[in-house]
Amino acid sequence: MGVLFGKVPLVVVTSLRRKLSVTAALGLLLIPGCHASEEILPYAEAIRTPVEDFSGLPVSSSTVESEHSTVFYRYPRLGQSHPLTVEIRTIMAQRQTTFLEDLPEEGTPELHQDMDFLAVSPEVVGARITADSPDDFGDEFGVETLWYDAASDTVLPWTALFTDENALEEVHLAVADVLENEYDMSLEQLPGLVGEVALRHQEETEEQEGSADDEQSDGDGPLDLSDPEQAQQAAEQWADSPLADLAFSTDGGLAVRMNPEDVPDADPANELTLPVEPESLEEFLSTFGYRARDAAVSNDPSDLPDEELTEHGVTLDCERLKCVALTFDDGPGEHTDRLLEMLADYDAHATFYVLGSLVEEYPDVLERMHTQGHELGNHTWKHDDLAGMSAKEIREDIERTNDSVSQIIGVEPSTIRPPYGSSNDTVHETVDQPLILWDVDTMDWQNRDSEAVAEHAIDNTAPGSVLLFHDIHGSTVDAIPDVLEELHNSGYHFVTVADLFGFNELDAGETYTDARVD
Ligand code: NI
Repeated sequence: MGVLFGKVPLVVVTSLRRKLSVTAALGLLLIPGCHASEEILPYAEAIRTPVEDFSGLPVSSSTVESEHSTVFYRYPRLGQSHPLTVEIRTIMAQRQTTFLEDLPEEGTPELHQDMDFLAVSPEVVGARITADSPDDFGDEFGVETLWYDAASDTVLPWTALFTDENALEEVHLAVADVLENEYDMSLEQLPGLVGEVALRHQEETEEQEGSADDEQSDGDGPLDLSDPEQAQQAAEQWADSPLADLAFSTDGGLAVRMNPEDVPDADPANELTLPVEPESLEEFLSTFGYRARDAAVSNDPSDLPDEELTEHGVTLDCERLKCVALTFDDGPGEHTDRLLEMLADYDAHATFYVLGSLVEEYPDVLERMHTQGHELGNHTWKHDDLAGMSAKEIREDIERTNDSVSQIIGVEPSTIRPPYGSSNDTVHETVDQPLILWDVDTMDWQNRDSEAVAEHAIDNTAPGSVLLFHDIHGSTVDAIPDVLEELHNSGYHFVTVADLFGFNELDAGETYTDARVD
């Protein structure tokens, strides 16, 4: 880490801090066994608001219990493809995959992923993602904080709250100061990056006193954290900093969470947050940092955007995940409802390529698909071969089917699955939607053998695969629990076609089989 050090103004110790020390000291003197942290904590109250405190906010939550594990997540949906929602969901999905891939043989470990808001305003939304496991299995994930900037419509790391790397150093020194003054820690005892920064600061102060030279450090200047890329770079370099889990505090300062095991006087059973007072921050917050602080202090739930499901939008970033798209053709049918229950057990989203002529028979099933987050695709009106039709016939068939779906769920299919996978130049030139085929064909319509279908699906899936099934066959639906269980345990996420192809722009009339990278 190329760390530089500029001129360092002394951190101001205010009278509030001294009053605190006295209270803490008294507490320690008068009540045996009383820990300093319990006295100091109230003064550094972190602004963190649980999701449930925002009534009316659409929230996605799910518990998947498989044979050897339980995974839970909850996150708010701030709108179709909102960058913060996508980022939170993607991080949680990545962690779930890591957790499931590394499962021990024994027991049924649990992973519990949740989030709090750190700030809410029309300009800034701050989020804090947590991952807990009763078996200490989730500790490796730590806490991640994210800051959404509406002006640039991007998600920024915590480092973007500060002006530059010198500011990061200064705020670490402020934390060191609290540990030294309130917890009687010596410079050598200071943990991790806080200790490193404080030690470096002392050495450099001594050097400067020794020589009057205005010595300057190596070539690269400190990172400018108003630049998103440099902020990201800094977040990676400073990943182990306790500031990665910072919140603003009710007095406009910071509340920085430390591991109580690193602080001898702290109670290991309690959360330990250290106050950085507003005075110690003033010069170091970036413009964005000031806006984030205002948002934290105002924290107005009515400022959260409402989600409207008007199209099939991206909900997570499959380029960074193990995703698979299950697709079901030729329905809906008598087994589809049962299939929807199976999918719900695994928080699985699928894509249904329905026949327009069947849609009117199953309006409730279609509505259920839609509310469960599945995607509806166009499989023509009655399974005619598009390659045998004129352009006019193709157009009429596709439009008629699109209309039948949108009349029920209010959303038109965004992709087409041509019957028999068959198309020609007339089809490609005529249709307004991309054509989605598959890379894994379970041949379920032919073999009607649940075991064979499940085995073929499990053995041939790779990240980015599109699997072909037909939900009109009971034998296919019977195969699905095994497919879900096995692929879930391997860390896969079951996503819609829209999510699988994600932010790649799919062209109308072009054919796509999968989103595999291999
Ligand atoms: Ni078909």
